[in-house]
Amino acid sequence: MEVIIVEDEEQVGKLAAQEIARLIRRKPNCVLGLATGSTPIPCYKELIRLHQKEGLDFSRVTTFNLDEYYPIDPRHEQSYRYFMNVNLFDHLNIDKARTFVPDGMAPDPYDHCKWYEEQIKLAGGIDLQILGIGHNGHIAFNEPGSSLASRTRVKTLTEETIRANSRFFERPEDVPRYAITMGIGTILEARKIVLLATGAGKAEAIRRSIEGPVTSMCPASALQLHPRVTYLIDEAAASRLEQKEYYKYVYQMAEQLKKKILAIV
Ligand code: PGA
Repeated sequence: MEVIIVEDEEQVGKLAAQEIARLIRRKPNCVLGLATGSTPIPCYKELIRLHQKEGLDFSRVTTFNLDEYYPIDPRHEQSYRYFMNVNLFDHLNIDKARTFVPDGMAPDPYDHCKWYEEQIKLAGGIDLQILGIGHNGHIAFNEPGSSLASRTRVKTLTEETIRANSRFFERPEDVPRYAITMGIGTILEARKIVLLATGAGKAEAIRRSIEGPVTSMCPASALQLHPRVTYLIDEAAASRLEQKEYYKYVYQMAEQLKKKILAIV
C-alpha cells in the first residue's frame, strides 16, 4: 500500500484531483468510482477548476457512486444524487446519463442492486475508485461486520448512522432507514483505489485500516488485499500511524526514483 501524507485537506484534494485528471487525459473514456461526504469536496472543487480553467474534458467519462439512501427522492437535498449534481456534475461537461448513483426510488431495490453491478461490468469496470472512511472504519455504507466479499446490496442503517445523519434532515424520522451500497467485494474489483481522509477524527480508523488486522470489524482493512491502493491523508489523520515516518521516507524515495527514470528514458 502507498501512504501519502500531506499537510492539510486542501493538499489532499489537489493531489486526488491531479490523479483523476491524469487518468482522464490518458484515458478520456475512463470509469471513475466516486464518493459523497465532506472529505472529497476539496477534490471536487479542484476538478471543477481544472475543467473550467484548464479544459479538463469529462465528455466521455463514466462515473459510479458508491451508495445512496433508500428510499429517497433523487431531488431531495439530502440525497447523494443531489449532492453529486450540486458539488460536481452540474459544473462539468459530463453527460449526466453516464453518471450512475444507486436509485433511491427504485421500485425493487434488490433488482436494482443487480442492475447496478451489471452496469459497472458493461462499462468495463471501475478504473479508479475514490473512497472516504467512517470513524468506525466503514467504506461506503459497509458498516463493521459487513462481509469482505459483499456485493451491491440493500443495507439497514445502524442507529448510530441514522443519529449522525439526522442533523442534515428536518426531522430525525425523515432519515431513510436503508441504503443501497456497493459491497466491499465490488469496491475491491476497481483497478486502482485512492482513499482520502482528513482530520484527527479519522486517525484511529486510518491506523486500524492500514496497520491493524484484516477484519470485517474494520471494513477498510480489506483494502490491504488490493494490489493498488493509495491512502492520501493529511497529517492529522496520519497522527496515530506507528510507521508514519517510514511511509514518508518511502514516498520520497519513490518520487526520486521516478525522476531518475524520467531523466534516463
Ligand atoms: P465524511 O464521510 O467524508 O463526511 O467524513 C466519510 C464516510 O463516512 O465514508
